[in-house]
Order: sequence, then structure tokens, then C-alpha cells
Amino acid sequence: MGGARGKKTGPWAVKDHTQLIADTQSGEEGGLKRAVGAVDLTALGIGAVIGTGIFVVIGQGIQDAGPAVILSFILAAVTCLFSALCYAELASSIPVSGSAYTYAYATLGELVAWIIGWDLILEYGVSVAAVAVGWGGNLNEFLENTFDYTLPESISTAREDGGVLNLPAVAIVIAVMFLLARGVRETAKANFIMVIVKLVVLAFFIVVAFSAAFNADNLSPFAENGVDGVVTAAAVIFFAYIGFDAVSTGAEEAKNPSRDLPLAIVGSLVICTVIYILVSVAAVGSLDAKTLGESDAPLAAVLDEGAGISWAASLLAFGALVAITSVLVTIFYGQTRIFFAMARDGLMPRGIAKVSPRSGTPVRLTIGMGIAIATLAAIAPLEQIVKLVNIGTLFAFFLVNVGVIILRSTHPEMERPFRVPFVPFFPIIGMCLIVYLMIQLPGETWWRFGVWLVLGIVIYIFYGRHHSVLQRASRS
Ligand code: ALA
Repeated sequence: MGGARGKKTGPWAVKDHTQLIADTQSGEEGGLKRAVGAVDLTALGIGAVIGTGIFVVIGQGIQDAGPAVILSFILAAVTCLFSALCYAELASSIPVSGSAYTYAYATLGELVAWIIGWDLILEYGVSVAAVAVGWGGNLNEFLENTFDYTLPESISTAREDGGVLNLPAVAIVIAVMFLLARGVRETAKANFIMVIVKLVVLAFFIVVAFSAAFNADNLSPFAENGVDGVVTAAAVIFFAYIGFDAVSTGAEEAKNPSRDLPLAIVGSLVICTVIYILVSVAAVGSLDAKTLGESDAPLAAVLDEGAGISWAASLLAFGALVAITSVLVTIFYGQTRIFFAMARDGLMPRGIAKVSPRSGTPVRLTIGMGIAIATLAAIAPLEQIVKLVNIGTLFAFFLVNVGVIILRSTHPEMERPFRVPFVPFFPIIGMCLIVYLMIQLPGETWWRFGVWLVLGIVIYIFYGRHHSVLQRASRS
């Protein structure tokens, strides 16, 4: 196996896209089961998207933008839309595991592919840890609202936030790890139920807020911090949209990839955008921006303090727990599939990608990732990690936009079941918006991001380049 047809060699070697698809059918690791349909894939997208962002991080956005956070949600959504179109084109044309990593391998060469794969660990692995921390916080919110009990701080928050270890975050990561190791069908079913629950809970929030608490006075001053506030908030609230691209990590398990992947990628983004706009209007119209910005659970605060219905706040906190669990399941799932693709290409040790014949899933990989993520979740503070996840994700989106333009010129003949309109203009607009959001993030986030990338390049120099299947094939 391997893409010996790549013309360039060394770190710039490009994997032929037809070879990429053929590789999924061969190899000692075996292929993944094609078991997932369009509705499940859309649920996968919604499952990955709606979570800590709308339930927790929205508060941070309101601090920056005030009620104008509604505009921040729109700006972040538009930025994502261009990338979603690009993901849709690439995922439907190259329906194999690995998402942006794989597309880069087919367009920009092995080194860039490795860098994206490494970068995607920020979007997926690290964000699972961050989302798990958000889950732990919501568990406390639920216990407090419902039973008037909270877990001791020492075992429920990270050191930097005043505790020692975040055990609820560790527990949920381990639980999700076992769910994923059991198999994709079971996971899709569990995810579907969680997605229904979160949609119902958010619909409930919107109805209660509009009917019992909405007061247009809360909307003014609308944008106290001006355009700057709106854009800064958009760079943070972007976190809430991360995940629609996780649909593409399930490409190899899709029953009808050319139709279902574009539908699910763009569809889940559009559905989530509509929900976010409604939720943000309902939230900032129902409680003053200052209270919302200071709250750890802003939506629950709307129902409790704004509408004065505390049982509704309890129900919402429960919904947040379920919602965030489905984000954990789907993003964790995405991370294992990206690693799977990298290991199959020899850039990571190949043994860890072995698919268990019983469950049809890469069990070793799932457990290894679970332990690493749980360790991070035990000690990581939420706010800084959100920004790191955002910068990593924006960078991956940027390269996906670049990839569409390059692949159109290097492989004009390639079959594209879905085509981004107005290439290269749409991807270029997408790239400009991405850079605009990236430069809003603070210097320390850029530093961390830089260190992470340098570490990745060092690993490639000492491991990946010697073990790459593509390079071995071209040498022999
Ligand atoms: N978009 C995901 C969330 O908000 C990461 O939890």
C-alpha cells in the first residue's frame, strides 16, 4: 500500500487522492465499517457543535460585546460558512478518515499534512479536555440548583481555579472513552438521543425566555465596546461553532459520502447558527449584560434570575450536561479517526491504529487518547484552553480553504460531488475572515500555538519522516 504515485518526494510528497481512497480498503489495520447515514451524520455535526460554547463561553462573549454578542455569533457563523463549504467539497471528493489532515496530504504535501494533523490535536484532543471541564462546572450547577449541594472545590476544579484536581471532568472523559471503544453504531445511537435532548432543552429555553423574561430595555446599550468588542467576542465565541467539521472525520464510515457529507456539514452549521442566534437574542433580551457576563452558567441564570423559574434553570442545567456529553463523544470520536489516519500513514506508530475485529473500532488508540485527555482535563483551566483551541481550529480552517484552491488547479479532473461556488473568491473571503478573527486572540495564545507547532515539526523530523509509508514506498 502507500501512495508511491506522489511525484514530489521528501516532506513535500503529495499523496494521490485516488490512492488515498484505495488505501482505506487495504492494509493490516483493516477498514472501518460503513454504517452511518445522512441523519446520523447531521446529528454528529450538531452533537459536536452545541455544548460548552453556548452554555458557558457565551458569558465571556457578552463581557466583551454586551448584547451585541448577537452580531458576534453572526460574524463567527459567516466565517465558518466558507470553511464549511470547503470541507464539504473536500470531504465528498476524498471520503476517507482524517479530515483536514488527509486533504492536506493530497494537496500541500506530507509536512503540511503532519502539521495540520498535529494542529488538529488542539481542535479535537485539547478541546475535549476543555469541554470536559465545562461539563464538570455544569454538573456542579445542576447539583446546586436541584439538590442544593456542590462538590468540594478541591476535587472539582483545576489548581489554577483554586482546586487540586477536576475529578468530574476525568470521570466523563473515561466514560466517553468506553462508549467509543464499544463501536460506532452504539455511539451514533447514543449521540442521536443526546442531540434530541439538547435541541428540546434549548427550544424550551427560547420559549421560556421570550414569554416570561424578555424586555427590550436589556438590549441597550447594545454595543458599548463598539466594533472591537463585537470582533473580540467573535474570536472567543467561535468556540461554539467548532465541531461541524467533525462530520468529515466520519467520512470513512459514511454509507453514501458524496451526498450525505456536504448535506451534514453545511446542514449542521446552518441549524446551529439559527439556534445560536435565537438563544443569544433570548438571553441578552432577558437579563442585563453585566449579570450574564459574570455568571458561570448564563443561560441557567436567565431562567432563574430573569424569568424567576428555578425548576426551569435546573432542567436547563441538566440539558447542558447532556449537550456537553454529546460534544465530548463526537469530538473525541473525531480525534481518534484523525490519529487513525496519521498512524495508517506511518507518521504515528502504526500499531496503535489497529482495528479490533470485535468492535470494528481502533480500541488501543481510543484508550490511549482517553488517558491523555483525562490527564489534561484533571489539571486544565477552561478559559485559556478555549483560546488555544480556537487558534488551532482557525489555522486548520485556513489551510482547508487553501487546499480547495490548490486542488482545483492541480487536479481539475477530480470528481467533485459538491463544489464550492465562486472559487477562488469564496475560499479567499473565508481566509481573510479567519485571519481577522485570529489576530483578535491575545499574544500569549499565539505563543502557545507557536510552541505547539514547533514541537510538532521536531517530532516529524525525528520520527514521521523516517516512518512515513509514502516515503518508504517512493524509496523502494
Ligand atoms: N462547539 C463545541 C462546544 O461549544 C466545542 O462545546
